[in-house]
Amino acid sequence: MKHNALTRRIAASPLAPLAGFPLRLANVVQHNARIARLSASWLVRSREHVHYTYDLEPLNMEHLAWFVATATGTRVATVRGYLKELQEDAELRRVMAEGLARSSRSASTDKVVRYGRRIGWYAFVRALRPEFVVETGTNRGLGSAVIAAALLRNGRGRLATADIDDRSGELILPPYDKVVEHVVGDSLEFLAGPVARQQPIDLFFVDTGHTPEHERAELLAGAPLLAPHAVVVATKTYCWPELSRWAEEQQREFLHFSEKPLDHWYRGVGIGASFPSLVRA
Ligand SMILES: C[S@@+](CC[C@H](N)C(=O)[O-])C[C@H]1O[C@@H](n2cnc3c(N)ncnc32)[C@H](O)[C@@H]1O
Repeated sequence: MKHNALTRRIAASPLAPLAGFPLRLANVVQHNARIARLSASWLVRSREHVHYTYDLEPLNMEHLAWFVATATGTRVATVRGYLKELQEDAELRRVMAEGLARSSRSASTDKVVRYGRRIGWYAFVRALRPEFVVETGTNRGLGSAVIAAALLRNGRGRLATADIDDRSGELILPPYDKVVEHVVGDSLEFLAGPVARQQPIDLFFVDTGHTPEHERAELLAGAPLLAPHAVVVATKTYCWPELSRWAEEQQREFLHFSEKPLDHWYRGVGIGASFPSLVRA
């Protein structure tokens, strides 16, 4: 009997679901064995239990280049150059490694520097050449340092960043600290205060990741502070639609990039970007 005829007969039989079972089981086992292998290796080699760090898969990096290129209206080859520039920045890597080694949270810190989605943040800053960048949610300051490194390469621009945690910002170290103003306090108070309002915001990173309600409040508080060409970047677009909703209300564009961590069990987060409308009137 020809293969096609056999397949048709199996599909028509009442036992069809059972006939496919071994194949389906093999697929599930293969997938979960890979996750189990990665998890076991991570449990042994990493100390992190929150804010995981990782590199991105090579194809994911290529998608990231296209994502930033589209959101900023930059040639993809130029953006690829920015991604490479950060990966090859030995000085930033050295300063971050020293900061991580001295971290007050060393018990839950890996010594290896891995930027994940922040490589894309770097490319946003390099492509847009902003005068004023605002970040909510500094945490240790890995993202702030990456943004500052891009500002220093641009030769212009400053970052203001805020976090409610008074231990935040430990990775905002010289020489990167000279273009960063770090505020300890609630992000909504920060956005209502003089540091965030010193000049129009060209690039706004929304990264407190607290609740959808808080993120929406940050977007509403930030909206009147934005320059007309401003780009808004958020992390939690993989789990709630606050940025895309806000973008539609503001007649802006929206795109989401999903991280694919390299050799990690974690599924990753992402970058949501809202940028001025490309829709013709
Ligand atoms: C995902 S982490 C930020 C990661 C950081 N941007 C980076 O690149 O590593 C979120 C941070 O937001 C801070 N946060 C949470 N709620 C906040 C609030 N209401 N105001 C200011 N910071 C807040 C937390 O303390 C935490 O450090």
